Amino acid sequence: MKMIKAALASLALACAMTTGAFAAGGDVEHADVEFSFEGPFGVYDRAALQRGLQIYQGVCAGCHGMKFVAFRTLADKNGPGLSEDQVKAFIAEAGYEVEDESGELIPAKTYDYFPANKGAGAPDMSLLAKARADGAVHIYSILTGYTGEEKEVAGTTLYENKAYPGGWINMAPPLWGDDVEYSDGTEPTLEREARDISQFLMWAAEPTMIERKQAGIRNIVFLLIFAVMLFFVNRRIWANVKHPE
Ligand code: HEC
Repeated sequence: MKMIKAALASLALACAMTTGAFAAGGDVEHADVEFSFEGPFGVYDRAALQRGLQIYQGVCAGCHGMKFVAFRTLADKNGPGLSEDQVKAFIAEAGYEVEDESGELIPAKTYDYFPANKGAGAPDMSLLAKARADGAVHIYSILTGYTGEEKEVAGTTLYENKAYPGGWINMAPPLWGDDVEYSDGTEPTLEREARDISQFLMWAAEPTMIERKQAGIRNIVFLLIFAVMLFFVNRRIWANVKHPE
């Protein structure tokens, strides 16, 4: 009993400390935004992922690489769901190339990966959404969190941003709301673009999230059925044993 109490006390302490730590970094303001993939039954919105891919390609790829994401995964059923021909067309249109054994540049194949970073200082995007607490909301909040203020520090321009820790980010606002012409005809507002790229980057970092959720639900259903079965088996086994009066 003593041990349990001690364990509970340290658990409570740990919780208090972690929430304290989050609160301490609390000068960031997160936007109030929800995504289709949240919750135990949530799934990615395929159309949003395809639009997000357009934003990544058209805007972010100039600085942010995505070196752990293979082109072929753009065909994932629970992801952007492109056809194989669409993946090939995407690579060809973007002009992605890789080196062959002799060091010569050849057109990338579907099993190749997005290139690594080009811009100095811009983090790779493959895992960004997972590396930050509440990743998609964090990314959305930064993209919509610019105040319009700028300042020069040691020759670098910093941009005030309500969602960035410290309040100043070394990235000019990348989105304005008219940055791409969506091929599905959606009107590109800043919020729409920010939502789509945030969802796309969540998928890039967590491509199997949906499969894992579905497996989890299957396991729970199985365990429930199993528990009911055990209950009846148990009753049967003990059915003939008389209870003491
Ligand atoms: C001109 C280059 C450039 C472009 C284009 C660009 N970024 Fe950035 N981005 C940067 C740099 C540099 C940083 C690091 C900022 C810092 O350290 O203050 C950064 C940081 C970020 C961060 C913060 C990462 C963190 O540490 O939490 C996010 C989110 C982000 N970029 C998203 C995007 C998205 C989404 C796009 C496309 C819509 C984009 N960026 C386009 C250069 C760029």
